Amino acid sequence: MNDLFLRACRREPVERPPVWMMRQAGRYLPEYRAIRERADFLTMVRTPELAVEVTLQPVDRLGVDAAIIFSDILVVPQAMGMRLSVDDGVGPRFHQPLRSPEDFDRLRDFAPEEGLGYVLSALRLTRQELAGRVPLIGFAGAPWTLLSYMVEGMGSKSFSHAKRLLVESPARAHELLARLARLVGGFLAAQVKAGAQAVQLFDSWSGALGPRDFAEFALPYIGEAARIARSAGAPVIAFSPGSGWALEEIARATGADVIGIDWQTDAAEARRRLPLDAVALQGNLDPCWLYGSPAEIRQRTHRMLEVFGCRGHIANLGHGILPDVPVAHAKAFVEAVQEWRP
Ligand code: CP3
Repeated sequence: MNDLFLRACRREPVERPPVWMMRQAGRYLPEYRAIRERADFLTMVRTPELAVEVTLQPVDRLGVDAAIIFSDILVVPQAMGMRLSVDDGVGPRFHQPLRSPEDFDRLRDFAPEEGLGYVLSALRLTRQELAGRVPLIGFAGAPWTLLSYMVEGMGSKSFSHAKRLLVESPARAHELLARLARLVGGFLAAQVKAGAQAVQLFDSWSGALGPRDFAEFALPYIGEAARIARSAGAPVIAFSPGSGWALEEIARATGADVIGIDWQTDAAEARRRLPLDAVALQGNLDPCWLYGSPAEIRQRTHRMLEVFGCRGHIANLGHGILPDVPVAHAKAFVEAVQEWRP
């Protein structure tokens, strides 16, 4: 049984850092695209047998040291009653984004087993299939990121609708953020009970907020979601890309075991600001470096590992892997970590 990942989360001694990649189950894999040709994305997510198969693909193909359950952060707003579609070339879209007070009133709370039972089934089934080969990671989107998606309806450059809500109706925003924090925290705890051995909170759009708004609208709610998740007993990973200036605050507010480091943040600076006696770090190779030759990938990866040091580091990209990266290059990254010794 390969438990490197869990030992690294707990900052225990390891022979080498574990490695996995955010979005490792995705379109850069031909075997993913083959399934995707037969089923649309949301069907794959909602069908435990397909979700399990896709979750295992990078473990089989690349030999990564952890599996992450195949799902999406947007399943939570969907379970609250929002109509979601994910179309080729368009990406995820909510048909009726939250714009009027009535839109907010229509949202419903849900119990994890009732609203997202299919994710929990996929986790249970994946644990069985993995049979201890590598640990299994669960995840959820953080409240601010989910709120912005729910208000914008889709990806955005300016986040003008979501940020306008913060300006015009902060009380309404806080109400929804608090609700999301409880639902997300409960969902993460349920994932741990269903077999997730660690959980990651993705605050993917935290970078849209300046320091004061981050402190008011993002931080308290990743804190609350992480607090509930931690009560289930598995390590929690907090990742707020674009907010590298707030590493200390994120660590303090979440009490997370592991802090995700984005590619924009200098690895040495991250380690200095969050010392090894405080938390483990995860990251942070720029995913664009996987366009380099395998030799360049190796060199860059080794340089990153030297900077983070062996203990308390989980090797990963500083953001999700891009869909047009050659599989051989993803493999070169994984192998570069696995051959490295301090
Ligand atoms: O890491 C993994 O392999 C687990 C699966 C996973 C997916 N989405 C699968 C997915 C995870 C952890 C996510 C998280 C997610 N989803 C985030 C946070 C991480 C990040 O990248 O910042 C966000 C913002 C989303 C919302 C989302 N879902 C977007 C923006 C998209 C479109 C992305 C794109 O490149 O088209 C999705 C769809 C999605 N989620 C895909 C996958 C594999 C592509 C779907 C397809 O096959 O067309």
